[in-house]
Amino acid sequence: MNLERVEQIIETYGRDRMNSLPILEDIQREFNYLPRQALELVAKRLGMPQGHVYQLATFFKAFTLSPKGEHQCKVCLGTACHVKGGALILETLEKELKVKAGATTADGKFSIEGVRCLGACALAPIIVIDNQPLGQITADAAVQKIRELAAPKTAPSPAPAPAPASKPAAAVPKRGVDMSAVPPR
Ligand code: FES
Repeated sequence: MNLERVEQIIETYGRDRMNSLPILEDIQREFNYLPRQALELVAKRLGMPQGHVYQLATFFKAFTLSPKGEHQCKVCLGTACHVKGGALILETLEKELKVKAGATTADGKFSIEGVRCLGACALAPIIVIDNQPLGQITADAAVQKIRELAAPKTAPSPAPAPAPASKPAAAVPKRGVDMSAVPPR
């Protein structure tokens, strides 16, 4: 992992232990999780006991100590979403991705988890993929979305080459005298 980047983040906050939470947030944003070496470095640079930094990292649900997938999928299991099939959506996505909730796929592409009410019950059932909420979604539509993200991105086809500029037609040399310019007698 890139410890230099962790150093930069810590320096941005002036190595101030009062900023330990924003520092951890930035590290998590950068790496998608809080790597152990990063936490050790934070403790060292901020002059904090490692145990204290680990406490912060484990207390807040927003932090995770295990690597997250490139795409993160949250399925709401709050009451309204549960009633409208949230559990079925989660189960279907687990089958599609071949991982259990809370885990990351072997290729590191997807993480999936069940979460509590997201506060948008009117849109139940709802899932959130990469911070994009998808309300009133069906299990099939959720699978479709995952497949779209899993599909390899095709490079945009190159723009067609401009057509060669057409040369002006070469003037045909006239033979003899142009009689049209001669006035009639
Ligand atoms: S129960 Fe899912 S958003 Fe409230």
